[in-house]
Amino acid sequence: MLKIDEKIKEFDPGHISAKLDKFNVPSLIVLIASENGIDIGYSISYDEFHDGSIHACYGGVLHEYRGKGVYSKLAEKRAQIAKEKGYTSIKLYTRNKRREILTYLITRGWNIMGFIPKKDLEDNRILFEKQLV
Ligand SMILES: CC(C)(COP(=O)(O)OP(=O)(O)OC[C@H]1O[C@@H](n2cnc3c(N)ncnc32)[C@H](O)[C@@H]1OP(=O)(O)O)[C@@H](O)C(=O)NCCC(=O)NCCS
Repeated sequence: MLKIDEKIKEFDPGHISAKLDKFNVPSLIVLIASENGIDIGYSISYDEFHDGSIHACYGGVLHEYRGKGVYSKLAEKRAQIAKEKGYTSIKLYTRNKRREILTYLITRGWNIMGFIPKKDLEDNRILFEKQLV
């Protein structure tokens, strides 16, 4: 997972490894997508807010494998597992500058439920939520 993350140019180097202690929790859900033995995408979620939601805190797909439904499949699996574990919704923070995931969220029926302004407009955080039905 860390190796995939290092190759995703949108992310700062080490942005996940700096937070590994946060992930030492029983609720952690880590999904890795592979193709022909190569790890090409990942999703990390855990129970951060203790309100019935699971927080999809990190995820990404290697550039050369994008636009082929890899993230959609990871997200489907994530929703299925979260539902089986009894969560009622998924929450996800993203930024103005992450246009691909914004498109994904808007077109897949996620709702905006929060906003955190940042110094740089492109870094403004937007909180999305989707109910698990
Ligand atoms: C966002 C990301 C995970 C999408 O991965 P992917 O495997 O290419 O996504 P999919 O092929 O499953 O596409 C799903 C949907 O995302 C949106 N999307 C994906 N790439 C897009 C693009 N280049 N432009 C616009 N929308 C895009 C579309 O809504 C697409 O659905 P459609 O194919 O029906 O139009 C990938 O672009 C990525 O890793 N981005 C950088 C990291 C990031 O933003 N992570 C998100 C967590 S904050």
